[in-house]
Amino acid sequence: MSQKFWVVVPAAGSGRRMGSDIPKQYLPLNGRTVIEWTLSRFVEHPRIAGVVVAITDGDPYWQDLGFKHPALMTASGGVERCDSVLKALQQLKQVAAIDDWVLVHDAARPCLSRDDLDHLLDELKDHPVGGLLGTPISDTVKQTNASSEVIGTPDRSQLWRAFTPQMFHLQMLTDALVDAARAGKVVTDDASAMELAGFRPKMVKGRATNIKITQPGDLQLAELYLKQLNREEQAK
Ligand code: C5P
Repeated sequence: MSQKFWVVVPAAGSGRRMGSDIPKQYLPLNGRTVIEWTLSRFVEHPRIAGVVVAITDGDPYWQDLGFKHPALMTASGGVERCDSVLKALQQLKQVAAIDDWVLVHDAARPCLSRDDLDHLLDELKDHPVGGLLGTPISDTVKQTNASSEVIGTPDRSQLWRAFTPQMFHLQMLTDALVDAARAGKVVTDDASAMELAGFRPKMVKGRATNIKITQPGDLQLAELYLKQLNREEQAK
């Protein structure tokens, strides 16, 4: 039997860089909150078996939302993103098979297109390791030292921005995250844990509009991208 696709959404961050009292995943965006747009992409998708969202224990914003769906489960969040992902994976193990696929997607990325999601599933479903959505870098990139002096210009033709979803097998990803934590590494994405474990995740080209809401101006950008996306998807 073919492997199922599950989704883990880490949503236990405080969003300090956003400078808002409310964590960024709960900010209003085109009539809903950021996290509702993100979760709706997955819970309504016929190829997704279920979704686990990692929430800070006692998070009042999540409780107020009252977001419910038969495909949705919750797990406790952790100190770092990678801890939240691990806790959600442990929860998922109660219902998923160890070689099922898991797509980890940031709650703060509400502008994922249906096309990109389907493309990722199709590109990676027979891949031995898995991979992630990203987009090639268009700017020239500089490396600096601690004094902000430029010390190098890497070849940009081989550089990508790494997005989510990042898609790996349940047990392989769990092992990689546990090993990274044991080695004292705080990985900022799931592919990094897989790389540390010696794997080579595949980069799948997606839209540059799949932004992570991080700085205040990002919300206005997300509003525009989401309107455009909803128009396109309704026109299909
Ligand atoms: O902080 P950053 O933007 O990298 O967070 C990416 C995602 O990870 C966000 O959706 C955030 O809510 C989540 N996160 C988490 N647990 C943490 C920190 C971040 O679930 N401890």
